[in-house]
Amino acid sequence: MKTYRICLLPGDGIGPEIIAEGVKVLDAVGEKYGVGFTYDEALIGGVAIDEMGEALPAATLAAAKASDAVLLAAVGGPKWDTTDPARPRPEQGLLGIRKELGLYANLRPVTIFEALAGASTLKPEVVDGVDLVIVRELTGGLYFGERERFYDEEGAGPDGGNGQRAYDTLEYREYEIRRIARHAFEMARKRRSKVCSIDKANVLETSRLWREIVHEVAADYPDVELSDMLVDNAAMQLIKAPAQFDVVVTENMFGDILSDEASMLSGSLGMLASASLGDGVALYEPSHGSAPDIAGQGIANPLAQILSVEMMLRYSFGMREAADDVLAAVTAVLDAGFRTGDIADASTPEDRVVGTEMMGSLVAEQIQPTE
Ligand code: NAI
Ligand code: MG
Repeated sequence: MKTYRICLLPGDGIGPEIIAEGVKVLDAVGEKYGVGFTYDEALIGGVAIDEMGEALPAATLAAAKASDAVLLAAVGGPKWDTTDPARPRPEQGLLGIRKELGLYANLRPVTIFEALAGASTLKPEVVDGVDLVIVRELTGGLYFGERERFYDEEGAGPDGGNGQRAYDTLEYREYEIRRIARHAFEMARKRRSKVCSIDKANVLETSRLWREIVHEVAADYPDVELSDMLVDNAAMQLIKAPAQFDVVVTENMFGDILSDEASMLSGSLGMLASASLGDGVALYEPSHGSAPDIAGQGIANPLAQILSVEMMLRYSFGMREAADDVLAAVTAVLDAGFRTGDIADASTPEDRVVGTEMMGSLVAEQIQPTE
């Protein structure tokens, strides 16, 4: 029997609740397709800080590297918030593992489940036909640039204050832009052959380099249509006419912000999955955070996690049919009217509002072994 080893990183907040549902779905897939999934659970984020004193313990990184794929839930929460730079922070675990595994491409597909057209805050005719994927650069830019906080007279200014200053730096190297651009063009070829590159080239030097390199790469893909868009306009277009987009490629921070915005097209952040790919082991996680406000209540939407499993099957294991099954299972459960609180609307009957576990079970039950 073919066996895959999956490193599970539940993390904090709703993490443990939703990852259990992802595992449920994997087990159902394993049973149907005669594939074995073995799980290796490790600590990351706040829970790792509590138990090991650091957000990304060496044992966790080793477990991730030894696996065939990593399934992560989310990290962070108010408990670990600190302004003391000497104290560890949960997101260091996340940024650290992305960097260590070389996961430079973050794919965030935004598709509309017809049953949820009413769950979006946008009009159904606006979200109709939306099928886009954001390709976010994940290991460069502001989130990895040099940063510092310090004190000096200039920081205090004319009206006093204690003179604090801080800076972050946004830097991109040519090769970092080239490889993510290639990824976007390759993906476009398998879709509707359109790439929209988003930058702020009217202001930022990194964006001018970005645009130049993306156009250079485009020369190798004459069959793909390339357009450029400034990020502020993109934020507007995503709400105004989202169906115009196919593949969107952008730098780290713009992609972070635009993908949360885009998640609302599908009704909830709880629906948005992501895959982080590099040259080795890939990592799959929902796009949302640890949702501390609803943690421990059994009401979180596990579908973003389950759809991350779908991406894992597709990209890491080449199990396209199984991935299609997961997508079909989620669609069927939504079509039957089942909703977690975040995607329920006024028209959802009370008996169809379900918790995290029930939602996961409903999806897993749809994945039946063929006779
Ligand atoms: P968040 O994504 O955790 O939550 C934003 C809002 O969406 C909340 O109202 C939450 O209840 C809701 N939500 C998120 N996921 C949901 C789900 N599956 N089902 C139902 N509702 C859901 O972002 P927030 O509140 O800004 O951050 C909370 C913590 O998560 C922070 O510590 C932050 O640093 C961390 N975070 C971690 C990320 C990760 O692990 N990849 C990404 C973003 C934030
Ligand atoms: Mg984010």
